[in-house]
Amino acid sequence: MKYILQVNDVSFAYKDKVILDKCTINLKQGVFYSIVGESGSGKTTFLSLIGGLEMPKSGKIIYNGQEVNRKNLLNYRKKAISFVFQEYNLIPYMTPYENVLLAMQVHDNHVDGLKAHKALEEVGLTKDKIYRKVTSLSGGERQRVAIARAIFTAAPIILADEPTGNLDDETSFKIIDLFKKLAHEYNKCVVVVTHDKALADDADVVVRLNINTKHFELVKYERS
Ligand SMILES: Nc1ncnc2c1ncn2[C@@H]1O[C@H](COP(=O)(O)OP(=O)(O)OP(=O)(O)O)[C@@H](O)[C@H]1O
Ligand SMILES: [Mg+2]
Repeated sequence: MKYILQVNDVSFAYKDKVILDKCTINLKQGVFYSIVGESGSGKTTFLSLIGGLEMPKSGKIIYNGQEVNRKNLLNYRKKAISFVFQEYNLIPYMTPYENVLLAMQVHDNHVDGLKAHKALEEVGLTKDKIYRKVTSLSGGERQRVAIARAIFTAAPIILADEPTGNLDDETSFKIIDLFKKLAHEYNKCVVVVTHDKALADDADVVVRLNINTKHFELVKYERS
C-alpha cells in the first residue's frame, strides 16, 4: 500500500536543544497509530511537524508523493490535516453543528447540514447538545465534536494529542472506538499521542519516541 505520509530523516531543534534526530516513519491510510514516549521526548513537537505547524530543520515530509515546503504548507494543513485537540481548534462561541459546518466549508468548500448532523449523532452527541455553545460542553463532548468534524471532512490525516487525558474510563473507551472507526471505516490515517496504555495498546501500530536516540522505535505492529 502507498504511504500517505513519509517522514524522512527529519530533524528538529528548539535553539540548540535537539528534539528529533533524523527521524523516519512512514504512515498509511486506514491505520491507527499511537505514539508513546517519555514526557519531553518530543511527541507534541512531532505532531506539529506533521501537522504543518512547524517546519523541520532538515529532512523531508512527503505527502502523497509531494514534499511539503514553505510554499504549499498552508494548503497542506488545510487539505490534509484534521486536529482532534481537546481545548484547541473548536470555535467556542459556536455550537457543535456550526463547528462541523465551518470545517466542511474550510476543508471542502461545501457544506451539508444533514451530513453534519449525522456526524454529530454518530459520535454520540445527543440532540440537545448539538445546538448548544461549545463552551457549555465537557472535555469529552468537545473531543467528540472534533472527531465528528474529522469524520466528514476530506482531510485524510487525523492528529490527536493526549485525547483521553482528562476523560473517565468509559468516555475514553468510546473515544478509542471512534479513532478505530476513523481508521478502519473511514480510511483515515490516525496518529494519536498518548500516555494512556489502553489507548496505545488498541492502536494497530505503536511507536515509541526514544528520548535518548531522538527517533522512533517500533513497539507493536499488527496490520498489513
Ligand atoms: N516552544 C518551545 N521552545 C523551546 N523548547 C520547547 C518548546 N516546546 C517544547 N520544548 C521542549 O522540547 C521538548 C519536547 O517537547 P514536547 O512538548 O514535544 O514533548 P512531549 O513528548 O510532547 O512531552 P509531554 O509528554 O510532556 O507532552 C521538551 O523538553 C520541551 O521542554
Ligand atoms: Mg506533549
